[in-house]
Amino acid sequence: MSLFQIVEVKKTFKNGEVDEQVLKGINLTLKEGEITALVGASGSGKSTILTISAGLQRASEGRLVFEGKNLNEMNQEQIRKIRARQFGFIFQSSHLVPFLTVQDQLMVMLNVSETKLKKHEQKEEVEKLLKIVDMYHRKEAYPPSLSGGEKQRVAIARALIHKPKILFADEPTASLDSRRTKDVMTLIRELTRTMDITTLMVTHDEEMLSYADQIVTMKDGLIQ
Ligand SMILES: Nc1ncnc2c1ncn2[C@@H]1O[C@H](COP(=O)(O)OP(=O)(O)OP(=O)(O)O)[C@@H](O)[C@H]1O
Ligand SMILES: [Mg+2]
Repeated sequence: MSLFQIVEVKKTFKNGEVDEQVLKGINLTLKEGEITALVGASGSGKSTILTISAGLQRASEGRLVFEGKNLNEMNQEQIRKIRARQFGFIFQSSHLVPFLTVQDQLMVMLNVSETKLKKHEQKEEVEKLLKIVDMYHRKEAYPPSLSGGEKQRVAIARALIHKPKILFADEPTASLDSRRTKDVMTLIRELTRTMDITTLMVTHDEEMLSYADQIVTMKDGLIQ
């Protein structure tokens, strides 16, 4: 079943006097529970289509249909709610808050998503997920004391703690070596399968393509 549809999406940036059309009519369907990998040369528009799909910036034209509704017609507050409750994000670097402990990074996300869980239930959920990503033993630690792979495992847990429907990931393993890449991708794949999460992931890394159900190549603002 299609959970998210990108229909004829275009994006034009104004660079000084010049209009640059970065996306020229993107069509893509994300199927429920699947990982879609987005590949293509630097500057081809991968991050742009990802952030537009995630409601982090607006399309100039086209439709982004999530559960039957067009994101591009919603106001900022409607988009904010969907982002906070239904979407999860992982970026190239983990973007953890340096002055929050590992467990508090996840607690904050539960607050942002306005979960109905009681405080003690939130704590239980956080601990459960930290065990799954093998970071429970560091739950009191602060990010500067974690390794790159550990930070990214916390970032994965933070992206998934509110059980989003869609996970958006922009080169989630770019800062990791080959072994850590495998660990992190295996984790993303296992978690998204068990939690029935649909994933759109930008990658440069050939190794990661074996984890994808669908591979889409972008070139000059179009899907090939
Ligand atoms: N806010 C912006 N204002 C102006 N131009 C932008 C903006 N964001 C992106 N661009 C331009 O749009 C093009 C596509 O950028 P994008 O970040 O989507 O590429 P990418 O495929 O993710 O590249 P990379 O693999 O290097 O991350 C680039 O030429 C970039 O300079
Ligand atoms: Mg990019």
